[in-house]
Amino acid sequence: MNVRTDFPVQFDQNGNLRHFLTIKGLPAETLTGILDIAHSFIDFGKREIKKIPLMRGKTVVNLFFEPSTRTRTTFEIAAKRLSADVVNMNAERMSTTKGESILDTVRTLEAMHTDMFVVRDRESGAAHLIASHLPEHVRVINAGDGRHAHPTQAMLDMFTIRQHKAEFPSLRVAIVGDILHSRVARSQIHALNILGAPEIRVIGPRTLIPTDIETMGVTYVNNMKNGLEDIDVIMMLRIQRERMDGQLIPSEQEYFNRYGLTEEALRFARPDAIVMHPGPINRGLEIASSVADGNRSVILDQVTNGIAVRMSIMAHLMGGQEKSKWN
Ligand code: CP
Repeated sequence: MNVRTDFPVQFDQNGNLRHFLTIKGLPAETLTGILDIAHSFIDFGKREIKKIPLMRGKTVVNLFFEPSTRTRTTFEIAAKRLSADVVNMNAERMSTTKGESILDTVRTLEAMHTDMFVVRDRESGAAHLIASHLPEHVRVINAGDGRHAHPTQAMLDMFTIRQHKAEFPSLRVAIVGDILHSRVARSQIHALNILGAPEIRVIGPRTLIPTDIETMGVTYVNNMKNGLEDIDVIMMLRIQRERMDGQLIPSEQEYFNRYGLTEEALRFARPDAIVMHPGPINRGLEIASSVADGNRSVILDQVTNGIAVRMSIMAHLMGGQEKSKWN
C-alpha cells in the first residue's frame, strides 16, 4: 500500500477534528484541549459507576491487524466508559485472511452502521486510507500504522509528562533506542515540538536512527552519557525486531551495555528525571528491571492514563468535548 499521509483528511470542512490520524500539523490548542479533557476523565476510573452516556447508541469497531495489549484494551475500556458498544476484530479471525482487501472489510463493517473505527495496521498510511474512503459521519482513530504514527500513544505520553513535570517549555527530553522503526518516536517528537519542548535529543546506534532525523527538530547523540546529561524525561523505545531487515545491532548484550537504561546510565540524567516506555518492554535489552520497576518509572502510569486520554480523543471526535455535555 502506498498512501499519502499528509493530506488534511483529519479535519472537516469547518476545521473541526474529524479523525485522529497523526499529531503532525495539529495546532497546540487541539493537543492541550485533549489533555485538559483527559484530566477531567482521569477520576472517572475511581468512581463506582465509571460510565457516562456520551457515546450511548454508537458502535466502535477495534480493527487490529497487528498484536496489541495496551492500545486495544484501553481503547475498549475507554469506549465502554463512554457507553459505546464495542466490537473487537483481530487479524487472524478476519476475512482478510481469505483475500478480502482491508477497504472491503471496512466497507462491510460500515454497512453494519459502525460509527468509529480504531485501526492498527503494519502498513504506514492504513488509517488515512480508510478515513478517506468512509462517509462523512464515520470517525477513524489511528492506533498505530507501520513506522508512521501512533498519535494516541504520544498523547498519553504527553499527559503523563504533564502529570509529573513542569510545563513543556522548560523540559529537556531524551528519546532512546530504535528510532528508525518507531511510530511512537515520530509522534512523540511532533507532540513535543508542538507543545514547546525546547530540547529533544535522540540517542541510539546510528543504524537505528533515520538519516534525516535532525529535520524533525531534534539533536542526535550517540552515547548515553552525553545524551542524558541534564535530561528531565527519558523516553525509552522497544527494539522492533519484527520490522528490521537484517542485523542492525551487534548483539543484544552489547546493545544493552551501550544503550540500555541501567541504574548507572540513569545517573547521567537529572536526579528527578522520569523514565517512560510505551511498552511492551524487553527487560535486559532496552531497560534494566530495577529501572523499569523503580521509583522513577512512570511506565504503568502511562498505561492507566491511556484510558482517559483515549476517552478524551473519542469525545473530541464525537463533538462532545464540552464538559456540560457529560459532567
Ligand atoms: N504501546 C503500545 O502500542 O503497546 P501495545 O502494542 O501493547 O498496544
